[in-house]
Amino acid sequence: MSKLENSSLSVLVVGAGGREHSIIHHCLKSPYLKKMIAAPGNAGIEESIPCFPISVSDLGSLVLLAKNQNIDFVIVGPEVPLCLGLADALAAEGIPCYGPKAVGAAFEASKSLTNEFLDKYKIPTAKSTTFTELKPALAYLDQQDFPVVIKADGLAAGKGVMITEDLGEAQSTIKSMLSGDSFGESGKTVVIEECLSGPEISIMLMVSGKDFVQLPFSQDHKRVGEGDTGKNTGGMGAYAPASLVDKKMQEKIHQTIIKPTLEGFISEGIDYRGTLYIGVMLTATGPQVLEFNVRFGDPETQVLLPLFKSDPLKVMYQCATAGLIPDKVIFNNSYSMVVVLAAGGYPDEYAKGDPISIPKIDSKESTWILHAGTKKDPRGQLITNGGRVLGVTASGTTLLEASKRVYKACHQISFKDVYFRKDIGHQELE
Ligand code: AMP
Ligand code: GLY
Repeated sequence: MSKLENSSLSVLVVGAGGREHSIIHHCLKSPYLKKMIAAPGNAGIEESIPCFPISVSDLGSLVLLAKNQNIDFVIVGPEVPLCLGLADALAAEGIPCYGPKAVGAAFEASKSLTNEFLDKYKIPTAKSTTFTELKPALAYLDQQDFPVVIKADGLAAGKGVMITEDLGEAQSTIKSMLSGDSFGESGKTVVIEECLSGPEISIMLMVSGKDFVQLPFSQDHKRVGEGDTGKNTGGMGAYAPASLVDKKMQEKIHQTIIKPTLEGFISEGIDYRGTLYIGVMLTATGPQVLEFNVRFGDPETQVLLPLFKSDPLKVMYQCATAGLIPDKVIFNNSYSMVVVLAAGGYPDEYAKGDPISIPKIDSKESTWILHAGTKKDPRGQLITNGGRVLGVTASGTTLLEASKRVYKACHQISFKDVYFRKDIGHQELE
């Protein structure tokens, strides 16, 4: 089926985080939906749709589930199943998928591949060199000025990037990556990169082969501590639209990054269908690419979907089936913010299994409690089950209004050692 009719789509959402909870929350309103299921889902998701306990990397079982449940369309949240080839396996069964095939997903699976692509198409990015052997990597480090960025080439759940301040730290980082100690196979190839500086911005494109829609700019706060200090995390909060990017900068980003990237995909024969997330740093010499991700950001998705005036399910389906009409995708004029409630200690060691208390939130206030690391214990009590536990999200007519709503709800939720940043959006609100 490629033409959409009301109540016609049976949809499977793959994933278990706040991003997937947000996708489900916003797509459940779609008139095109017939039914929706998730695998594996989480405690929040299972309150609204049936969840099947299948790992996101068990491609065989996911495809079987889609066939047994007569699924017409699969939305894939995380990168791991895409890099393993879930979209390819679904295509072999004739099931459209929002999320690229393995050849496109490889840009997230290998940072060196992305760097080669960026160099080939003259897209601005940090200078970098790739190593698999210790001796040449150490010799190269001897020649560098510090800080230097060292990256595990493969997937590392957002933790594979180290900003090293001196030679000693860089040497020990390289040794533990190349030996496989710190990131297993993903670290056995390392990328040594020039350290850029400037504000960061997340650019999400919903791509359908040669056509695409650019979502409003968003900003994620990746550091654990207030004032953007401390360790990198999966993301502690985000807001959108981010107004850090003026018209002139937008045009520059389009001409120097977005246009050559999508033209490059086509030249390479990559028919990309899904989100391309480009992490960009606004440096003194212009916007430069930090990374490509091949899926929606988490927690950026939680603040982007409330900005859709169009039906996001329809847009995703059109991307997957090459029917996207970019001009028809419209956004509303609101602002949105998400604050992540984390388990104390995250991103290092943290406890699991603590009871969570969530009050009834006033739905008129456009506030949503999205689940990430949660589950129910055998007695049905909601408990913590991950580092990033909940994503409290709110919309408003201004960023300040969204922020007030978010923090009001955050202060009403409790679990042992709950931690959240109190300054999400600080660059725009101060
Ligand atoms: P990535 O997983 O590549 O997005 O990197 C995670 C974070 O590391 C980014 O959001 C940046 O804050 C930082 N980072 C990555 N590459 C660089 C770079 N070349 N210079 C400075 N910071 C970087
Ligand atoms: N928020 C960062 C990411 O999704 O990679």
